[in-house]
Amino acid sequence: MRSLIDIVDFSVEELDALIATACDIIDNPAKYSEKCKGKKLATLFFEPSTRTRLSFEAAMYELGGNVIGFSEAKSSSAAKGESVADTAKVISCYADIIAMRHPKEGAAYVAAKNATIPVINAGDGGHCHPTQTLADLLTIYREKGRFDNLTVGFCGDLKFGRTVHSLINALSRYTGIKIVLISPLELKLPSYVKKDVLEKNNITYVQTTDLEEVMPELDVLYMTRVQRERFFNEEDYLRLKDSYILEPSKLKNAKSDLCIMHPLPRVNEISVAIDDDPRACYFKQVLNGKYMRMALILKLLEEAAK
Ligand code: CP
Repeated sequence: MRSLIDIVDFSVEELDALIATACDIIDNPAKYSEKCKGKKLATLFFEPSTRTRLSFEAAMYELGGNVIGFSEAKSSSAAKGESVADTAKVISCYADIIAMRHPKEGAAYVAAKNATIPVINAGDGGHCHPTQTLADLLTIYREKGRFDNLTVGFCGDLKFGRTVHSLINALSRYTGIKIVLISPLELKLPSYVKKDVLEKNNITYVQTTDLEEVMPELDVLYMTRVQRERFFNEEDYLRLKDSYILEPSKLKNAKSDLCIMHPLPRVNEISVAIDDDPRACYFKQVLNGKYMRMALILKLLEEAAK
């Protein structure tokens, strides 16, 4: 049974095909409006979400399907001690496909091992968030027209930011990519991502604490929130939370076609004064996420039917 746990579960060719399907959905929505008629998506969210859960639900409804699920662990039998493995077996009796978010790294993998239907990882702890990466890739493709030969800056919490880990993994498979890692020393990209992804794929990367110094060379700037929920103590979070705040003055040396992204929710990282700048792409990213999730649901249900 094919699932999506990590972005590298899909080849570059499969990602290209998903982007092509998403673009076709954008151009011809009526063609897809009954593709999932009679099918059910289960959204199992053990951790809070606005975009991921609701875009999955909107995606399934726009494909003509239905949705069941829960939005917090305490309203499921996880609160009584039921395991992820048993939950996956149970939901396989009710639905055709699962989208699951869980605070523990590896939880989606355990669900996929035990389910008899496709499982989509909608975020597992600080590990990865492959469907956010699908949204990010479609955004880069629509804004820049390519993935090769881009300089992409990641700024903020690169330690706990699972969207960063997934997107770096995806971009490392293209040529001429340069990655610029901008973070406080305490929130640097984990060494396993540097070694197993960047160095293994011979990707050029630099690390810095100074956003303004590297701004002129960036084609894409991916801002992130400091992940309060993953800190062990509140004092460290309060000290680091406002390390980077993107304000209009900080863009004075940026490229005129810079693509500013953020997986959202934002707290303080991007001033609302940036929202009207044509380079701000984070709300486009939200919409792109729905189209890519539609394409993904179609692909996994088609493969499950074979
Ligand atoms: N980007 C993202 O995962 O947002 P939510 O936490 O609201 O789903």
